[in-house]
Amino acid sequence: MWKDLAAVVVLTIAITHPVQLAAEDAPASQKSLAEQLVDAFNAVFGVHPGLRANHPKGVVLEGTFTPSSSAPSLTKAAHLQKRKAPIPVTVRFSAGSGLPTVPDTNDMPRGMAVKFALPDGTKTDLVVLSFNGFPVANAEEFRDFLLAVAASGPDAPKPTELENFLGGHPAARAFVETPKPPPVSYGTLPYFGINAFKFTNAKGSVTHARYQLQPVAGAKYLSKEQVATMGPEYLTEEIRERVRRGPVKFKLLAQVAEQGDTIDNPTIVWPDTRKKIELGTITITKAVADSEAAEKKLLFVPGALVPGIEPADPMIAARSAAYIVSLSRRAQSQ
Ligand code: HEM
Repeated sequence: MWKDLAAVVVLTIAITHPVQLAAEDAPASQKSLAEQLVDAFNAVFGVHPGLRANHPKGVVLEGTFTPSSSAPSLTKAAHLQKRKAPIPVTVRFSAGSGLPTVPDTNDMPRGMAVKFALPDGTKTDLVVLSFNGFPVANAEEFRDFLLAVAASGPDAPKPTELENFLGGHPAARAFVETPKPPPVSYGTLPYFGINAFKFTNAKGSVTHARYQLQPVAGAKYLSKEQVATMGPEYLTEEIRERVRRGPVKFKLLAQVAEQGDTIDNPTIVWPDTRKKIELGTITITKAVADSEAAEKKLLFVPGALVPGIEPADPMIAARSAAYIVSLSRRAQSQ
């Protein structure tokens, strides 16, 4: 049943996002960039059958989205128009690593993925990280970064490939060296869309913007002393407990580009002074009963969009293709 579902999902998205799904054991030179990217994750983190090539450790919850009155000024996207009832959403928070057993106390950016279910059956996704900015400018460089990490184990000759890579990529060095303190909760972290999208409103007016998600509970982090007392599953346990006590809310914002802002390079963070348009509120109300079963059936794709929103940064298409390759491999290895 799940395999049928995965096949339908892969097929549907493959039609809208043409991707070459070649054999896993083809020579690297014949593989698509998406496959090379998934192989590069596997080189760093290993292959974990049935699980995501990146962010395999996660927790699935449910809730609703209520658009704000200012959202239609940015886009005609259906989920961002005034409506009678809130839109159901499925949310997956994830640890920032390709290792399924990574402790929640690790210092990698956390992930949040949101699927909006529109009344006509259409679904659209938002896939964000708890870090503003990306280590590299494009997907080819990301592959090379991952391969450099994979080649730089403790026994690697010095300077390691990673040291060489960081030497030539200051944004990657800054990303690696910036502290990413573990949060109190998945619900007390700001998240960032990182890649820019092109928004078109009903009058045809075009704006480039990047998503931000602000936790209504405020951004709260643990001290070093608190981190030392936390168990490896503390974030998963905490968010389940938190939604039992009451809803966990995020404001969805669009940070608007000004004339001359770079839209096709996610290492270049726009100044915080850029205008932000409030798009609505995500209200998470409950954890799903069987998160493990739910996440296997879920695929969040940054390029799964509705009219009124299009990719502006080419990394979005490259990411989407890699997520589909990862899904097709995890579905086949159940
Ligand atoms: C070229 C750059 C990138 C590549 C190749 C890449 C690749 C991947 C892959 C293969 C997965 C597993 C997908 C699955 O099996 O369902 C994944 C998951 C994820 N990625 Fe990326 N990624 C990239 C950039 C980003 C960026 C910029 C963000 C945030 C803005 C991001 C956030 C996430 C999150 C949150 C997940 C977990 C999604 C879930 O819960 O299903 N990634 N990524």
